[in-house]
Amino acid sequence: MKASVIGLGKLGASMAAAFGKRGFDVIGVDVSRHAVDLVNEGHAPVQETDLEETIAANAERIQATMSHEEAVLESDISFVIVPTPSDEKGAFSLQYASWAFKELGKALKVKDAYHSIILTSTVLPGATRHGLLPILEAESGKRCGPDFGLCYSPEFIALGSVIRDFLNPDFTLVGQFDERAGQQLEDLYAEVMENSAPCRRMTLEEAELTKISVNAFVTTKITFANMIASVSEKIPGCNVDVVTHALGSDARIGSKYLKGALGYGGPCFPRDNKALAYFARELGAAAELSETTDRSNRAIAGTVVERLSGMVSEGASVAVLGLAYKPFSHVIEESQGIEITRALSDRGYRAVGYDPLAGENAQTELKDHAVILDSAKEAISQADAVVIATPDPEFCALKAADFKGSSDPLLVWDFWRILADEIRDAPGLRYVPFGCGIDETANAGRLKALWSQTSQDGDT
Ligand SMILES: NC(=O)c1ccc[n+]([C@@H]2O[C@H](COP(=O)([O-])OP(=O)(O)OC[C@H]3O[C@@H](n4cnc5c(N)ncnc54)[C@H](O)[C@@H]3O)[C@@H](O)[C@H]2O)c1
Repeated sequence: MKASVIGLGKLGASMAAAFGKRGFDVIGVDVSRHAVDLVNEGHAPVQETDLEETIAANAERIQATMSHEEAVLESDISFVIVPTPSDEKGAFSLQYASWAFKELGKALKVKDAYHSIILTSTVLPGATRHGLLPILEAESGKRCGPDFGLCYSPEFIALGSVIRDFLNPDFTLVGQFDERAGQQLEDLYAEVMENSAPCRRMTLEEAELTKISVNAFVTTKITFANMIASVSEKIPGCNVDVVTHALGSDARIGSKYLKGALGYGGPCFPRDNKALAYFARELGAAAELSETTDRSNRAIAGTVVERLSGMVSEGASVAVLGLAYKPFSHVIEESQGIEITRALSDRGYRAVGYDPLAGENAQTELKDHAVILDSAKEAISQADAVVIATPDPEFCALKAADFKGSSDPLLVWDFWRILADEIRDAPGLRYVPFGCGIDETANAGRLKALWSQTSQDGDT
């Protein structure tokens, strides 16, 4: 079977490369001439782990074109992976997908053989059947089911490991309009995937709801761990990592995404929760948990700066280490480091920052809200307080001697508890590991007062 991939962005180009790697011929389509030329020259059109190498190694199987018609005529199945940006209500816009479906519909009109269209972009329930299918039928003059196939099949990937995640999923998700297209896609996945992941087949709407529910659940789990961390640090001697390690041992809970720290960010997680809440409201259902998760996550930067105001003087210099939304990434979209830096600047602090890969993007985004420097040490040297915002291995390797700031003691607020033990008691540093109850006097007082009051009430 020959596949085509419509949209050669972070996800689409990686998927095309993965097909090539697994021995399939694949045609990529993009509206960008530059992206198409790069792929045809054996290069990656976007930055993603192993993408350049995988495309180069399989160049004879991977072609690209700007013609949707050429792609449809020369393949059996087309995956559509174009942007679905959030709109002002929190929903996902079908603007790019509609245009792609229009072109695909025109191509289906001139193709005699059966062909399947697979939507992979993130959409809300009902979008494939009611928003996009009518475009295909109108443009092609054909009927979905007997004349061509349609599925909704999103991938569960993380930026930075897209090719590996695509080829080794926990499960594949196939929402089918018609049985024939669903079976064809399940069979293709069975050949392409490197593992033998189960395939979950269902209706279009069930698959659309499953996709968004996965992200909503994971973000709620992250937010739960963050909540436990903020309770843990009020209990003298309590370490949130000890608590979550045990918590994750319960098979009903599991240990992934259970690290009490800063919130989530990036291009997918924050918008998916908002979209689910919007969608539920529109249909008269309540997705209060998603609304709360979203609200809690967005409140983090403000809370950090509020708490910092009790620890450092007004107008102090604060260094934020970690500006990408996660380590090994240049992506700063909705990153906690960026939000904290912006909030610091808005509160009158002098913000400096550093990130191993995202520095340039961060400076462009933050403009004169912050000065982004070339090394962690340089940022620290200008600071009265340091906030560790991502668990980047470069920060884990920092030694006590690297923390020479402009205040004595220098406050080091480590949200991921990654710094070496020697830093904890180093002279000239006030080390605050988030989620650990180290403020013995104030917290012990409150804890004791709570229990002496309760025992006087006779309440056990
Ligand atoms: N990036 C992620 O981590 C991720 C994860 C899961 C799901 N998704 C979803 O996948 C979809 C694509 O995301 P992405 O990050 O790959 O986007 P992207 O912006 O990196 O790439 C999209 C590509 O589509 C091209 N394009 C736009 N309209 C086109 C058309 N009509 N025909 C052909 N090409 C067209 C653009 O030129 C661009 O190259 C989105 O719906 C996103 O929500 C992304």
